[in-house]
Parts: sequence; structure tokens; C-alpha cells
Amino acid sequence: MLNPPETITGTRIILKKADKTFKQAQISLAEVDASRAELYPWLGWASPSYGLEDAYEYLQGCDKEWKEGKGYNYMLCDLSGQFMGMISALNVNEDYKSLEIGYWISTRFAGRGFMKEAVRLIEKEFFALGINRIAIHTDVLNVRSANVPQKLGYRLEGILRQSSWNRAEDKFRDINVFAKLKGEYK
Ligand SMILES: CC(C)(COP(=O)(O)OP(=O)(O)OC[C@H]1O[C@@H](n2cnc3c(N)ncnc32)[C@H](O)[C@@H]1OP(=O)(O)O)[C@@H](O)C(=O)NCCC(=O)NCCS
Repeated sequence: MLNPPETITGTRIILKKADKTFKQAQISLAEVDASRAELYPWLGWASPSYGLEDAYEYLQGCDKEWKEGKGYNYMLCDLSGQFMGMISALNVNEDYKSLEIGYWISTRFAGRGFMKEAVRLIEKEFFALGINRIAIHTDVLNVRSANVPQKLGYRLEGILRQSSWNRAEDKFRDINVFAKLKGEYK
């Protein structure tokens, strides 16, 4: 097991292991509610029916994944501890030393470079733990999301044609595969 730290502190943000309490489910849901119009086009789970029970179950799942070493889900917070979104090291494969990063941020905190900083913190921690490859998958139409790996020097390796189903539009979507290798990390 990788055993990453439960708290990672940056200059403007802190990443904290997802808290599985009911209180956190309420806080998460409030941000999803406020940002649903921007989240749902890209994240099928943020559908109009996503509610408190789903938010709570998600946090229980995060806890389980962490214990099993399958995924490490962090709350993205500002320095005062205000919850802003999530960033996760997912699909951890310890044999291949690879993982994938997934993320979302509440609209009121978007566009200020917080996600770029969050990805940098995850990279630093997980490359140091022996991970060799970090991938970020984005819908080809999701320009804001693709900007994050692009600005951080990830290489676009290819496009997985119609490999995702967009729930909001009821359509297949092409997915960009961006990745950075440990040897490319500066
Ligand atoms: C994608 C998302 C996580 C980006 O988070 P963010 O905190 O806004 O990203 P950052 O501020 O770190 O911006 C990274 C880059 O994106 C670009 N960007 C930021 N806001 C933008 C906007 N409104 N329009 C276009 N590009 C934008 C900038 O180029 C920025 O780089 P720069 O600061 O060097 O100019 C956020 O918009 C989001 O949660 N979107 C909805 C959910 C989603 O799409 N998740 C990803 C699924 S793969």
C-alpha cells in the first residue's frame, strides 16, 4: 500500500483525506448544488437527482477505497479549511505504478489556479511514493478541464474514441488521455 499522507499542505490550498461524516456530506452537497450546472455536463454523477444520501454514500466509498489502497480521495480546501471541491488519485495500480487523477471544484472558486496547484501537490506526493505514471482523462469538449494538464506539461497521448457516455446529453463522447511520467516530472 502506498500510504500517502492524510493532509497535504500547499501555498494557497490544503488537501485533506475525505471526511466521511454526515456533516461533510451536507457541505459537499451544498457545493454540488451551487455548481450543478457546471458539473453535470462533464460528471454524470452530478445529475439533478444527486442528493444527500448519494453524497454520504460517496464519502463512505472514499473511506473504503483509501483503506483498500485503490484510491485516495482528498477534499480540496482553502487555508482556512473551507471546502472547495475534490481531487482524487484513482485507479491506483501498484504493479504498474500508475494512477489517474480526477477532480472538480465548486464554481465560485474556479478559474483561480486552485486545481493546478492541487494537481501539482498530488504529483509531488505520489511520484515520491514510487508512482511512475499519472494520467488525466478529459472529455474532448471540456476545455477548462484539459487546460489543467496542458498547463502542467502533461502530454496528450491520444483520444479514446466514444469511450465515455455523457449522461446529460445522452451521447457517446471522445476522451483525451493526458499523462506525465516520473521522468518528466520537474
Ligand atoms: C475543470 C476544473 C476542475 C478546473 O479547475 P480550476 O480551479 O478552475 O482550474 P485552474 O484555475 O487551476 O485553471 C487551470 C487552467 O485552466 C484555464 N481556465 C481556468 N478557468 C477557465 C475558464 N473559465 N475558461 C477557460 N479556461 C479556464 C486556464 O488556462 C488555467 O491556466 P492558467 O491559470 O495558467 O491560465 C473546474 O473548472 C471544474 O470543476 N469543472 C467542472 C467539473 C469538471 O469538468 N471536472 C473535470 C472532469 S475531467
